[in-house]
Amino acid sequence: MSEGRSQGGARDAFATRAVHAGLTPDPSYGSVIPAIHQTSTYAQPRPGEFVGDYDYARTANPTRSALETALGELEGGLAVSFASGLAAEHALITGMCAAGAHVVLPADLYGGTFRLVDKVMSGWGLAYDLVDQTDLDAVARAIRPETRLIWVESPTNPKLDVIDIRGVVAARGDALVVVDNTFATPANQRPLELGADFVVHSTTKYLGGHSDVVGGAVITATAQWHERLRFVQNAAGAVPAPFDCFLVHRGLRTLHLRMEAHARSAAAVVELLRSTPEVSDVKWPGFSGMVSFRHPAATEIAARTRLFTLAESLGGVESLIEVPQAMTHQSVEGSAAAVPADLVRLSCGVEDPADLVADLRQALGAP
Ligand SMILES: Cc1ncc(COP(=O)(O)O)c(C=O)c1O
Repeated sequence: MSEGRSQGGARDAFATRAVHAGLTPDPSYGSVIPAIHQTSTYAQPRPGEFVGDYDYARTANPTRSALETALGELEGGLAVSFASGLAAEHALITGMCAAGAHVVLPADLYGGTFRLVDKVMSGWGLAYDLVDQTDLDAVARAIRPETRLIWVESPTNPKLDVIDIRGVVAARGDALVVVDNTFATPANQRPLELGADFVVHSTTKYLGGHSDVVGGAVITATAQWHERLRFVQNAAGAVPAPFDCFLVHRGLRTLHLRMEAHARSAAAVVELLRSTPEVSDVKWPGFSGMVSFRHPAATEIAARTRLFTLAESLGGVESLIEVPQAMTHQSVEGSAAAVPADLVRLSCGVEDPADLVADLRQALGAP
């Protein structure tokens, strides 16, 4: 059995890579699926002698390495995984920025990202501006000599604006471009191929895909940045557990199928929303399962659905509904990134689209 035989090759189609990425048959027993190495340390035959970089499990773990190989293959770079999406973001910002640096944030963004920069990192001397990144001139105007990172979400959370990543890259000057690819996933968008320097994921969402794990990752095509991120991963220590790595890796293998099904559900739901009186501002990027709309009775609708569970998070096989202003985006209240109270966000799952439409129809009181 040759090493790497079942891994997705660079020239295989995405579906093939999703199924095979990071799966090297176990050298001891030939197990097709990576073992869960639930260990904190590794025996050394002599002091300082060990296999690869496996001396201590904060530094490296084979289950984690398999996941990182897979994530790297799918995004086209080198991956480092973390205990949550926010741990990944924190490692990236602290690894790349020093006191006095400036970051351009999107004016519509995940509330936790804003909270991290506004309430934690600003205390350590990080400055930021919120910029509507659908306006590339505004992005260019926001860049200062000390701008280190331009943080992009595409589609944005929760308003689902699609950002021209190539356009941001062209406008970046000396700044590094980070794209939070959580909503799109590499099945739909691979930012490194568009010139971005880093991709960030909350693997909690579509990559894990089953609402049973919290995790995060940063992927970069630059070996030097990858080394730096690995250094921070080990130095700060927000590493994911082996079982969590196993779960995310298992999720990746059906990513392409799930993303197609999510999009089918979203398309059906959008058709209903666009023909329902009182519903306005229906947004769906045309891929993925994320849909947002406005309705004066947002809170009541979110409490009335049967199949769409009222819950935070997104990207699992089951449909979720939420009101961002009251749930996931409280930390942007009062800032320029605040979201309207009548906004509803849907994460359309992979159930039968007709059932999802019927559920929303009754919740909306639509004919
Ligand atoms: C777009 C986006 N990025 C990052 C995160 C943070 O990820 P985690 O909850 O895994 O820390 C979230 C969480 O909802 C998110 O929606």
